[in-house]
Amino acid sequence: MRINKIHIENFRSHKVSDYKFFPGINLIIGPNGSGKTSVVEAISLIAYGHSFKGAEDKELVRRGEHYLNIKAETSYGQIVTKVKINIVNNQKRVYIDDRAIKRLSELMDVLNVVTFEPKEVSLLQGPPKQRRKFLDFAIAKISPMYLAKLQEYEKLLQERNKILKEEVVDETHLNIVTDLLIKASEPICSMRARYIARLNTCLKQVYAKIDEEKKNPGIVYHPFVTPDENFLIAAKTAFKDALASDLAKKVTSIGLHKDDFLISLNGQDVATFGSQGENRLAVIALKLSVHQALEKREDKPVVILDDVLSELDTLHKNKLLTYLKTIDQVFITATHTNLDASQVHIIDLSKQ
Ligand SMILES: Nc1ncnc2c1ncn2[C@@H]1O[C@H](COP(=O)(O)OP(=O)(O)OP(=O)(O)O)[C@@H](O)[C@H]1O
Ligand SMILES: [Mg+2]
Repeated sequence: MRINKIHIENFRSHKVSDYKFFPGINLIIGPNGSGKTSVVEAISLIAYGHSFKGAEDKELVRRGEHYLNIKAETSYGQIVTKVKINIVNNQKRVYIDDRAIKRLSELMDVLNVVTFEPKEVSLLQGPPKQRRKFLDFAIAKISPMYLAKLQEYEKLLQERNKILKEEVVDETHLNIVTDLLIKASEPICSMRARYIARLNTCLKQVYAKIDEEKKNPGIVYHPFVTPDENFLIAAKTAFKDALASDLAKKVTSIGLHKDDFLISLNGQDVATFGSQGENRLAVIALKLSVHQALEKREDKPVVILDDVLSELDTLHKNKLLTYLKTIDQVFITATHTNLDASQVHIIDLSKQ
């Protein structure tokens, strides 16, 4: 997938801006506050329908204005699509080829992005919730049924927690819901395990290219129960063992809503033992592995790296750039560059 051009109007500090994008590396440069992140944020809006930074719609509208417009052209192989997003008085409308869409997830067929922003350097060191979100998001992109399964699980989990909070717990009801919860867990856990195994293979390849070769990186999945042929029995035992604690705490203390994963380098957890630079490279490699894990070239997402170069030393910067050149379309923001236009397509915001 690719984005060919974008028109942004009243988006953050941009009044009216038009950009043409190219295959390969698009390097957006300009001083601090010149609107670089805003450009990639507008691209993320075309892919998700909302900002990759988690900003609310009303924050995106240029101060003092009551509307914003974004128009973009994307391509999937030979198929060219037009996407339009308006936010007027806090009402958002999204059009694909002039047809108003009902669900933002329809945008997934038009543009996918993998983003990295500086605060994500703590993805491995921060709370497990962020890692589950990353994983769920990545799997949902390739398997539409995954989200439905996850929602079914969430509903059962809420029901179980509600039963546990009752003054007198109805044990028959609790057992029925626990069984349903375990059954609902199995496909999710096995999809997570399969995806992590695939990601692991990709991570080894990507990491070796952007850091030293002999660090033996790996992703280690920590499911609440191993998703193999004994899953149902093992999960039942685990829930039985946790019952006293669940009843005392009035909440479901085990289950896939507590799953986690870590990245190791030479057998050591990066989050605990890695340097800041190793954490950064591991998260970048993880994100790039999501890209690598997709097989069909047309399906591969656009990679957006906001402000990653400034924090890397020259060796790692060059290694990363060499790797990024193999990717279909990449956006990088930086305050300056010593690269010339033969290597990358430069979009210089200071010249506007
Ligand atoms: N809704 C808004 N209306 C007007 N201006 C805004 C709005 N939201 C943010 N800005 C401003 O837009 C400017 C550009 O921000 P942006 O983050 O895109 O810059 P940047 O080039 O990425 O900077 P840096 O190099 O510091 O990362 C900032 O000065 C910010 O204050
Ligand atoms: Mg920025």
